[in-house]
Amino acid sequence: MERRKVTVQTIMSMKGKQRIAMITAYDYPTARLVDQAGVDGILVGDSLGMTVLGFENTLRVTLRDMLIHVAAVARAKPKALLIADMPFMTYETGVRDALKNASKLIRAGAEAVKPEGGQEIFDVVNNLVKFGIPVMGHIGLNPQRVLSLGGFRMIGRTEEQAKKLIEDAKALQEAGAFAIVIEMVPASVAKAVTESIKIPTICIGAGPHCDGQILVIHDVLGLTERPPSFAKKYVDLASIIRDAVAKYVSEVRNGEFPSAEYYKDIKS
Ligand code: KIV
Repeated sequence: MERRKVTVQTIMSMKGKQRIAMITAYDYPTARLVDQAGVDGILVGDSLGMTVLGFENTLRVTLRDMLIHVAAVARAKPKALLIADMPFMTYETGVRDALKNASKLIRAGAEAVKPEGGQEIFDVVNNLVKFGIPVMGHIGLNPQRVLSLGGFRMIGRTEEQAKKLIEDAKALQEAGAFAIVIEMVPASVAKAVTESIKIPTICIGAGPHCDGQILVIHDVLGLTERPPSFAKKYVDLASIIRDAVAKYVSEVRNGEFPSAEYYKDIKS
């Protein structure tokens, strides 16, 4: 049976009924595969700065980078909901910039956008939603604030921080967000946030009590050099790729490749 297209409404209706599984993807072939595997949402994350472009954090990812990767993923025509990250300083500078930049991501094929932050981006989220652009929030560790945080740290250990996370989640819900990513927060705090709002929460490094989970595809496939401790590696693709390419190199060097079957169609 053909899978039905996942919409923002589908994701919202899943809260309390079915756990939501999301994953990142940054290119056409990976998007096809994760979609065939049945994920509910594909995030073209600005984590592509680290996973694909080799930067140390997400701060140097530009809107142009995002547009190229969103368009590639959109060409896979996924049934999963396609969400695009809004990169650093493409929404913080005001509602007008946020609308202009989010609309470019939508025209490239995104079906929703994800800026980082809580109460401080209420107006941005509210206006995007008001003008037809669905928004997924992102609270807890906001990697775009890595410099002021002094590193990728867990957020919400103090009572004050935990209270702020709940306030942030409520503000995003009120602004019109359809779901919220909670990153690197103690499990008990993520649970309290999840229970305090009506929209789904999607955890990464925040325990099992959210309405869904999201992971970075490179961590799942074993392609990350130093993966975070909360990410499960489902396959060691790095070894598989290294072994396959080493075999190819060896066969080229010893003349085993190409054997006759690989040049039978090539006329001399
Ligand atoms: O950029 C990204 O991949 C993300 C996920 C970690 C949620 O924001």
